[in-house]
Amino acid sequence: MSSPSKPKPESATQSPQGLSKGLTNYGDRGFSLFLRKAFIKGAGYTDATLARPVIGIVNTGSAFNPCHGNMPQLIEAVKRGVMLAGGLPMDFPTISLHESFSQPTSMYLRNLMSMDTEEMIRAQPMDAVVLIGGCDKTVPAQLMGAASVNLPALQLVTGSMLTGSHRSERVGACTDCRRYWGKFRAQEIDADEVAEVNDHLVPSVGTCSVAGTASTMACLTEALGMSVPGAASPPAVTADRIRVAEHSGVVAVEMARAGRRIDQILTPEAFENAMRVLLAMGGSTNAIVHLTAIAGRMGYEIDLQALDRMSRETPVLLDLKPSGDHYMEDFHRAGGMATLLRELKPLLHLGAMTVTGRTLGEEIEAAGPGFAQDVVRPLSQPLYPQGGIAVLWGNLAPGGAIIKQSAANPQLMEHEGRAVVFENAADLAARIDDPALDVNANDILVLKHIGPKGAAMPEAGYLPIPAKLARAGVKDMVRISDGRMSGTAFGTIVLHVTPEAAVGGPLAWVRSGDRIRLSVAERRIDWQVSDDELARRRTEQPVVEPQAERGYRQLFLRTVTQADQGADFDFLRATETRGRVPRPR
Ligand code: FES
Ligand code: MG
Repeated sequence: MSSPSKPKPESATQSPQGLSKGLTNYGDRGFSLFLRKAFIKGAGYTDATLARPVIGIVNTGSAFNPCHGNMPQLIEAVKRGVMLAGGLPMDFPTISLHESFSQPTSMYLRNLMSMDTEEMIRAQPMDAVVLIGGCDKTVPAQLMGAASVNLPALQLVTGSMLTGSHRSERVGACTDCRRYWGKFRAQEIDADEVAEVNDHLVPSVGTCSVAGTASTMACLTEALGMSVPGAASPPAVTADRIRVAEHSGVVAVEMARAGRRIDQILTPEAFENAMRVLLAMGGSTNAIVHLTAIAGRMGYEIDLQALDRMSRETPVLLDLKPSGDHYMEDFHRAGGMATLLRELKPLLHLGAMTVTGRTLGEEIEAAGPGFAQDVVRPLSQPLYPQGGIAVLWGNLAPGGAIIKQSAANPQLMEHEGRAVVFENAADLAARIDDPALDVNANDILVLKHIGPKGAAMPEAGYLPIPAKLARAGVKDMVRISDGRMSGTAFGTIVLHVTPEAAVGGPLAWVRSGDRIRLSVAERRIDWQVSDDELARRRTEQPVVEPQAERGYRQLFLRTVTQADQGADFDFLRATETRGRVPRPR
């Protein structure tokens, strides 16, 4: 096992500077501090209080964000922890993103949130920061922003929602949202029943209760060492979640005193641990894009080929929907991340440093011996023999594509078929349910122009089964796009095709009737087209990259990178390259 990289000398001796941090705005440092204190004293603080280490707490509460609906209680508990440890808690707002209330897509706004997070941490005097977030894009945005600042920081996730009950059947968002909507489309349930289940899918505040992006990022954050141990799994409305918040406040003060910054934690070992956990939990494919973006802020490139090798030797152990049967609250009762990490020990870098100042291995030991449970399988009896995610290559995806094989249909993973092509999301919406659509169950559905530049990468890669086939009982088909899919979805779905259609990737020229072959065993996605035919189509149908006249959209379209670079803005990535992860062996 390798050890974490050594702290830089200056960070080891850095002590909290509190309110006097970064005083340059009025030239005269003394006057700057004098002014700063005069203003903050307007809120009733004393000099003694203001002399303490300042711990920023990022508040991402919003009426539009029920995933963050426990924010007031979490902030209160973090503040208690900070004060008990001798710090001064200062909460401040940043952008809040909820999946369902972020147009055109939450992915469009993730980088903006990361810039807000980065700049507000830089702008305001704080010695450490507690990042509170939970909904899908929030944790990636916060880790990206904080990584770029590189100060002592830790993540506190809001926690998952509870599960509900519909006519005695347990339900949870949003794998069951999709399942019930699929039943409704197939006319297996009526409008009254689908309206009734709508009341029960999200029975409390908190993040989606299956292995969607939010739960995946919560687990990856703990595996990265960026949260206190045990932080990933407590549901949002539990006492355990509040205790995690209080503990996070205590640890943030210790981090400020020790000068324990993010670059001591987000090392290649940490990213490799996070990838192991992603694979072993059958987690959301979106996490690859987000980990790539976070790693990019630290100067690391994600090597998809090496990730695929890692996937072949990492079994899926966590029995969570959509790959398995359980929900996050079950995982919590089964011991949470300690149970999973204990099982994965032979595959982890146990010497990786965490926010507590102890290594991941030390934290696993401290969590105790474990107990009988049925949510995390032993290494010897996996849920699925290989990692949840496979990376595909071929003439359709020269820069790679992703498939979540643990949620795919084994019969379709080796499949050749005729392409049925939709030019963009609007074309799909207009034609997918047309009774005249020329499509059968063996065809391959292709959706173009939902990549980073095409449409800000919506989770539209989970193309619906055409209504006439759904009614005939077809549950799955091979589907291909340059977009993403929700971690709560399932099916034989090829995602993140790179380069995307909007920048002239091969996908741009696929037409209905072309033959496409998927082989997950060979890790191939190939398209039968002659060079002459391709050249002819390129001339006939030249690609014009989307542009915008002004504003954030212009910045987005000018600078967003492809999925294999994390869809981050090019100017936000680290300026110096430190290497590739997973590292070559
Ligand atoms: Fe927020 Fe699912 S919508 S985590
Ligand atoms: Mg999602």
